[in-house]
Amino acid sequence: MRTQVGIIGAGPAGLLLSHLLHLQGIESVVLECRSREEIEATIRAGVLEQGSRDLLIETGVGERMQREGFVHHGIELSFGGRRHRIDLTELTGRSITVYAQHEVIKDLVAARLAAQGQLLFEVSDVNIADIDSERPTVSFAHKGEAARLECDYVIGCDGFHGVSRGTIPHHVRKDYSRVYPFGWFGILVEAPPSSHELIYAQHERGFALVSTRSATVQRMYFQCDPHDKVEHWSDDRIWAELHSRLENDDGWRLTEGRIFQKNIVAMRSFVATPMRHGRLFLAGDAAHIVPPTGAKGMNLAIADVRLLALALVEAIRNGKQEGLERYSDTALRRVWRAEHFSWFMTSLLHSFADASDFQRQLQRSELEYVVSSRAAMTSLAENYVGLPF
Ligand code: FAD
Ligand code: DHB
Repeated sequence: MRTQVGIIGAGPAGLLLSHLLHLQGIESVVLECRSREEIEATIRAGVLEQGSRDLLIETGVGERMQREGFVHHGIELSFGGRRHRIDLTELTGRSITVYAQHEVIKDLVAARLAAQGQLLFEVSDVNIADIDSERPTVSFAHKGEAARLECDYVIGCDGFHGVSRGTIPHHVRKDYSRVYPFGWFGILVEAPPSSHELIYAQHERGFALVSTRSATVQRMYFQCDPHDKVEHWSDDRIWAELHSRLENDDGWRLTEGRIFQKNIVAMRSFVATPMRHGRLFLAGDAAHIVPPTGAKGMNLAIADVRLLALALVEAIRNGKQEGLERYSDTALRRVWRAEHFSWFMTSLLHSFADASDFQRQLQRSELEYVVSSRAAMTSLAENYVGLPF
């Protein structure tokens, strides 16, 4: 097989890249190791920045998001028994959209298949070779048969545990990493929304987050031991924990419901540099991870491939390499801003078991500053809604 752009991974990064290239008349093949059913059912992110939303609409895959997603103009920070609203739209002129990542995936898969895009599910043994040459190749197995894809460019969109990043030789790579001493316990609940807007809560028992999915399904998270097991958490124990972390003085109370999904995710910050070697380019979680507190991961994946699509079009159509040469440096500027913001939100809102009393006072001071200073609030808001591309 031959294609212009070989893409490993059908997450938001890989699928959107394939879609953007198709709109510019460039063909690609997407290789995904899981099944279509699995990628369309994996529960992950929920918040789209204004720029991500605009891009999906402009490129014709935002119709269902516009119908079913929720536009939010603010978020709430809860601490010390009180909730404080940050008016994102008043401060920045922008807003966010709550629309689940797996719904974005469904919309992109449908668009690629409707356009006869080449999307191969359940491939295995993916191996990238010759990235230093003009003709990199990807070998893999599909439906029991060995196959080989010759490409002009290979794009690693295969997430944190994928194979692409490892193809870049160690001597040219520098990785940066931080592992947090806690994880997030996530639940899906059959209940009406408890709040019009997302609530990010700091509490001495740990962080909690109230988000939403629809009029009847709610998404909530709370800080937990990353090595804990979901079996240790009965529904009653989960509700007790959420109620105590979200306690407040104004009588507001979280609405309970049937919990139908529970999972635990570990939290880390990670950046691999450079995001390019030869004709291999990395995008999304394959190159960087943020802790989810800033709601940045999917948005960064989208920003990476937007940039990469522009650069690939210039290179393939007009023979201009500058965009591809600048890709890693340009993408990393946004990546590091999101890394900092995600670390900041995580530090601001979580309980650190080893924090001294002094550090706890600093955290409280920072929270009070963020909800009382317009300058501090604006800084948080402009990062949260997403800086312009
Ligand atoms: P992925 O979505 O990981 O996709 C990679 C794909 O590659 C997968 O389908 C995988 O099966 C495939 N693959 C892997 N290895 C191979 C291989 N060897 N061969 C072929 N295919 C392979 N982000 C936000 O922006 N907002 C949020 O609110 C948010 N909340 C989050 C909450 C949680 C609990 C979690 C876990 C994450 C959250 N994120 C959030 C992060 C977001 O989900 C990720 O950043 C996003 O999925 C990255 O997209 P991607 O396409 O780069 O990678
Ligand atoms: C959701 C996830 C996040 O990481 C976040 O910061 C806000 C909302 C969500 O899944 O709805």
